[in-house]
Amino acid sequence: MESQKKRKIKITGTGFYAPDKILTNFDLEKMVDTTDEWIFTRTGIRERRIASEDQATSDLAVEAGKRALKNAGLKVKDIDLIIVATSTPDTIFPSTACWVQKGLRADHIPAFDISVGCTGFLYGLILAEGMILSGINKRILLIGGEILTKVTNWKDRNTCVLFGDAAGAVVLEESDDDSGILSYYWRADGNLGNLLSQPGGGSRIPASVQSIAQDLHYLQMKGNEVFKHAVKCMGEAALEALKSAGLKREDVDYLIPHQANIRIIEATGRRLKIPREKVYSNIHKYGNTSVATIPICLDELHKADKLKKGDVLVLDAFGAGFTWAAVVYRW
Ligand code: COA
Repeated sequence: MESQKKRKIKITGTGFYAPDKILTNFDLEKMVDTTDEWIFTRTGIRERRIASEDQATSDLAVEAGKRALKNAGLKVKDIDLIIVATSTPDTIFPSTACWVQKGLRADHIPAFDISVGCTGFLYGLILAEGMILSGINKRILLIGGEILTKVTNWKDRNTCVLFGDAAGAVVLEESDDDSGILSYYWRADGNLGNLLSQPGGGSRIPASVQSIAQDLHYLQMKGNEVFKHAVKCMGEAALEALKSAGLKREDVDYLIPHQANIRIIEATGRRLKIPREKVYSNIHKYGNTSVATIPICLDELHKADKLKKGDVLVLDAFGAGFTWAAVVYRW
């Protein structure tokens, strides 16, 4: 399952899109019994972006995809597969990836979704590596897009302060040099499914007047338990992926963890003994945008010229499922 191969795939373009509307902690003070101080000290979040009523996940994803293609110096016709990671699809079917394909006018390349919770972007990277190195595809557009605020219960202060909307994208192709994915580690544990879920609206509890009255179409979470598993799983994933790449923690230039909570991010850094200045975080601006957090971090670092050729990055995430994964990447 884990790999360290000579042939690699690499990121040749990055981009992200976040809606314009900002919801601050002070705005939330007017909506539920909370304070800016509580939210910031417990989560590190100051504000998050909120999609407009007429925006669906594919609208954010199309924009992020266009930006990644532009950054790669490519046109839509240059890609041959679209993968979208999301837990908040436009529609249960068709897949969001098909709506993205329509939005990009990428006729008629294959397109599909993966549903892995917040780990979706990393699962997507691993999947893309398999598709490209096996010769099935040459150039893949991988997008993580999410509008969690549309499945958020705005009366539940335990969850509504945490999430935001955005999409992040990368273009992937076979590497012609030393850069690219060095190794990965991915896991899932369905026994922990109830820690974080949207119980209603699927085939287990189809949408009904009753399911809506019981708020089952909203995201539900056991925050404390998610927290504990997150730190343990992200630590395990990063260490195993580094081992598989034949690298040590001292070799890491940037740890880019899923942006769920600053305390989870910092605890993971401490567990891995990676100095704080090497642990990237932008959660104060966007909150938890699920599958979009890691590609947004990558795009920010890339556009700010903070990534030097040869830098070793550890991308590390956990999410609903439970799923967790890490990817070691040489820039
Ligand atoms: N404002 C004020 N008080 C709040 C609050 C809010 N927004 N949300 C919860 N509280 C209260 C709780 O009701 C509780 O009060 P009580 O002791 O009177 O019952 C108290 O704060 C402490 O709650 P607790 O759940 O122990 O807080 P915490 O320190 O664990 O922080 C989370 C809560 C949700 C921030 C934290 O558990 C977390 O981030 N978990 C992981 C969530 C996550 O990452 N999810 C996404 C996975 S991809």
